[in-house]
Amino acid sequence: MSGAAHPASISIAVEVPVIDHASDPVHAADPPADPAALAASWLPGPDEDRILMTLSTVSPEGVPHARTVMLSDFDGASFSFHTDASSRKVADLAVNPRVALTILWPGFTRQLVVEGLATRVSDASAARAYARRSPYLRQLAWVNTPEVAAQPLAAREEGWARFAAAHPDPEPPAGWVGFAVRPERWLFWVSHPGAPSRRIEYTPSATGWSARPLPG
Ligand SMILES: Cc1cc2nc3c(=O)[nH]c(=O)nc-3n(C[C@H](O)[C@H](O)[C@H](O)COP(=O)(O)O)c2cc1C
Repeated sequence: MSGAAHPASISIAVEVPVIDHASDPVHAADPPADPAALAASWLPGPDEDRILMTLSTVSPEGVPHARTVMLSDFDGASFSFHTDASSRKVADLAVNPRVALTILWPGFTRQLVVEGLATRVSDASAARAYARRSPYLRQLAWVNTPEVAAQPLAAREEGWARFAAAHPDPEPPAGWVGFAVRPERWLFWVSHPGAPSRRIEYTPSATGWSARPLPG
């Protein structure tokens, strides 16, 4: 029945604190040499709430596809996300592993854009990421199918409640997969209330990464 009581909110992501522009390394005269360390200073740690990003892929026909996914982890080298193996993004990645990730901070204070290559993570790693997801998202991975999407809301509510009662602590479904994106280009954008916004672009160099400032 569609009049059933539901939780008022779903635990997916929370806001992160507003930045201190004066101390942000992207405004400094000498940008940090290591973009991975800079990203780590911006992103939540492994025990903090996850944040969201826009994942852009390219179809075999060259059509861009973009959608929001959760950043499951940044391990200091790559950005991981998790999804359904039958999704369009996974079909795109099978043909072209090049992606762009866009992360926007609340209040438009920061934006991080990463371009790179996505590769499949191990099943064990994907299972660990599944275990870290909220109960709502663990269940969603099981019941978010085309057949269920075609049902009226009342039927989807009933199916949801039935699944939750029968599977209080589900394992990952067979189609649960993860990808790790290794950056080849990084763009750190910061706002400033009293100065122009600024980006630092990092591209590969012989010794690591070369950094240069760009207008917003
Ligand atoms: C806030 C939010 C978080 C989402 N997180 C994920 C996620 O972590 N993984 C995922 O596969 N889809 C996630 N989605 C759904 C995707 O945006 C998308 O609709 C779905 O993955 C199908 O995309 P595709 O058909 O382009 O592959 C999220 C959507 C929103 C609005």
